[in-house]
Amino acid sequence: SENYPEVQRDARFKKLTSDDLNYFRSILSEQEVLQGSELEDLSFYNEDWMRKYKGQSKLVLRPKTVEKISLILNYCNDEKIAVVPQGGNTGLVGGSVPIFDELILSLANLNKIRDFDPVSGILKCDAGVILENANNYVMEQNYMFPLDLGAKGSCHVGGVVATNAGGLRLLRYGSLHGSVLGLEVVMPNGQIVNSMHSMRKDNTGYDLKQLFIGSEGTIGIITGVSILTVPKPKAFNVSYLAVESFEDVQKVFVRARQELSEILSAFEFMDSKSQILAKSQLKDATFPLEDEHPFYILIETSGSNKDHDDSKLETFLESVMEEGVVTDGVVAQDETELQNLWKWREMIPEASQANGGVYKYDVSLPLKDLYSLVDATNARLSEAGLVGDSPKPVVGAIGYGHVGDGNLHLNVAVREYNKDIEKALEPFVYEFVSSKHGSVSAEHGLGFQKKNYIGYSKSPEEITMIKELKAHYDPNAILNPYKYV
Ligand code: FAD
Ligand code: MLT
Ligand code: ZN
Repeated sequence: SENYPEVQRDARFKKLTSDDLNYFRSILSEQEVLQGSELEDLSFYNEDWMRKYKGQSKLVLRPKTVEKISLILNYCNDEKIAVVPQGGNTGLVGGSVPIFDELILSLANLNKIRDFDPVSGILKCDAGVILENANNYVMEQNYMFPLDLGAKGSCHVGGVVATNAGGLRLLRYGSLHGSVLGLEVVMPNGQIVNSMHSMRKDNTGYDLKQLFIGSEGTIGIITGVSILTVPKPKAFNVSYLAVESFEDVQKVFVRARQELSEILSAFEFMDSKSQILAKSQLKDATFPLEDEHPFYILIETSGSNKDHDDSKLETFLESVMEEGVVTDGVVAQDETELQNLWKWREMIPEASQANGGVYKYDVSLPLKDLYSLVDATNARLSEAGLVGDSPKPVVGAIGYGHVGDGNLHLNVAVREYNKDIEKALEPFVYEFVSSKHGSVSAEHGLGFQKKNYIGYSKSPEEITMIKELKAHYDPNAILNPYKYV
């Protein structure tokens, strides 16, 4: 491929013929088939959110029923046609787009809420329901989706399950491995496996759904999700704080867990460069604080009694400010201010790629080492002579993320994607993480970007078991090829 000179198209996969198209057209309606031509531009499906990865698929299928998905996969398996499952295409590791001419199977038309039980709070929905729509639906019934992330307006419920997305509330509500109660999955041979359970406890053998949570479209298509939602909090508070060192970020974190305990629902940190970048996108917004500081913290609390939460937060803030651990801060006084404070955190992904592109590293590290990776990366890029004003290709490396989960987002904002930058960063970043016994992917997955780097976080025995599972359930390897397995 012109886009990926380092990978070869696998000759085992069939190139689409007119017979194949006729078959798909015979089982699908006109709206369910998008065929690349001069009239129809498929770049929305071929290109990823970062505009870093781009495939050349000529066919997107958007089936409206599970049965049709089953027929499509059964056919592709028999004919050895490679398939890329796609949700909202907001993934950040190049997993959701084809590498060559793979058929794109979009879940976008499988988008109905199936059932909601207002007593247990269990939601059952199609995989293609947009996360924000699922959340709005349960919010009306006084529940809330246990997961929230910046891509909520586009990503699918099935997509977040397929990537095991973490997001902003994991600290409080845990990972999808705990809240997903059941799945419906179509296997590569077309078999529909229905395990849409609504039980929190079920110890009858292997917990098979776990295999698909975080499988990134490599062993089955998730078509239905059963998930435990949480009671909608009656009161939210957000405060935006300044601290002078990453050590102080950690001190505030420990204190927040101790003193805000059950009402703490998010603890995010942002370095100063990330906020300067965010400012360039939030032109009309005034920065929440008067001065610049090395680090900022966003704390969200949520609970069932506003007075109780307010007084708890106030006591906490008074004490950390008196001690000088926090040097400045604001608390949102109403819903608009609350949303505005969140923007300074949620705008970072967009802002960090606004100069032309971004190299993203999403890692787990011991908290004490979390920020040292950002400093080490900036030093390395400077040594390589890559950072500075234009025409230097790198704007700078920034750090932010989910402190509560030990998860750093290291973003290298660049003016263009180029091999010199990539060589300076990889495997450097992965080696750094591995030396601290962290994970080279805390939440975004491996996809295409990190397919060669799984060994930095998994043992040879684990990798063998992953390959065996893949070979067993997808013997023709049609699902999401060229990615991590
Ligand atoms: P896609 O991007 O379409 O697909 C992602 C992967 O899952 C691909 O490998 C694809 O093949 C597979 N897949 C999708 N749907 C299915 C299905 N139904 N069955 C089988 N496989 C499927 N991630 C976090 O963890 N935390 C965050 O805080 C976070 N914030 C983000 C903020 C922004 C602005 C953006 C753009 C992304 C963010 N992400 C975050 C990345 C995250 O991975 C995605 O947003 C989301 O999880 C992917 O959902 P999607 O529906 O867009 O899936
Ligand atoms: C986030 O926490 O903002 C996301 O994981 C997205 C990103 O890092 O770009
Ligand atoms: Zn994140």
